[in-house]
Amino acid sequence: MNMIKKSKTPRESEVIMREMVMPSDTNAHGTIFGGKVMSWIDIAAAMCAARHCNNPVVTVHIDDIEFRSPINIGSHVIIHASINYAGNTSMIIGVKVESENPITGVSRMTTKAYLTFVAIDEFGKPVAVPKVEPITEDDKRRFENAKARVKHGKELGAKLNK
Ligand SMILES: CC(C)(COP(=O)(O)OP(=O)(O)OC[C@H]1O[C@@H](n2cnc3c(N)ncnc32)[C@H](O)[C@@H]1OP(=O)(O)O)[C@@H](O)C(=O)NCCC(=O)NCCS
Repeated sequence: MNMIKKSKTPRESEVIMREMVMPSDTNAHGTIFGGKVMSWIDIAAAMCAARHCNNPVVTVHIDDIEFRSPINIGSHVIIHASINYAGNTSMIIGVKVESENPITGVSRMTTKAYLTFVAIDEFGKPVAVPKVEPITEDDKRRFENAKARVKHGKELGAKLNK
C-alpha cells in the first residue's frame, strides 16, 4: 500500500523535462510559439504536483508567467518544476524554463511561471496533500515567496470581489 507522507521535500517531487523545438512548435517569426511553452510548463508542473501528493491533480491557476527571451528552432528546452508551497489541498509549483543551444552548449533563462494545482479524489473533490519541508536556502526562499503569493492572491481576490 502507498503510505501518504505528512511532509515531503521539494527534491522528492522535482521534475526536469527536456524537449526540442521542432518546426511545428514555432510561430510566424520562426521562434517558439508561447502556447507550446505554456503546455510544457503545465505538463511538467502537473507531474511535479502529482509526485508530491500521489493523487490526480488539476490546474486551477497560472500566475505571473513571463517570457524573457525567444527560443529558436532546433534549440533544446529544459523545463524545471519544483514544489514551492502546499496549502490544505492546493500546491504552488514554480517552473523555470531554459533554452540550450546543443551545438555551443550555451544556455539562458527564457521563461518562469507559478502554477496552482489541487489534488482530487475519484469524485473530483479536493483532498489533503502533504506539507512542503523546505531544506535548502533556495527551497526556503521559494517557500516564503509562495506563501506571500497565496496571501496576496487571497487579498486581491477579496478586494476585486472575485
Ligand atoms: C479544483 C476544484 C476541484 C476545486 O474545487 P473548489 O470547490 O473550488 O474547492 P475549494 O474552494 O475548496 O478550493 C480548494 C483549494 O484550491 C484553492 N483554489 C481554488 N481556486 C483557486 C484559484 N483560482 N487560485 C488559487 N487557488 C485556488 C483554494 O484556495 C483551496 O486551497 P487549500 O485547500 O490549499 O486551502 C475545482 O475548482 C475544479 O474542478 N476546477 C477545474 C479544474 C480543471 O478542470 N483544470 C483544467 C484541466 S487540469
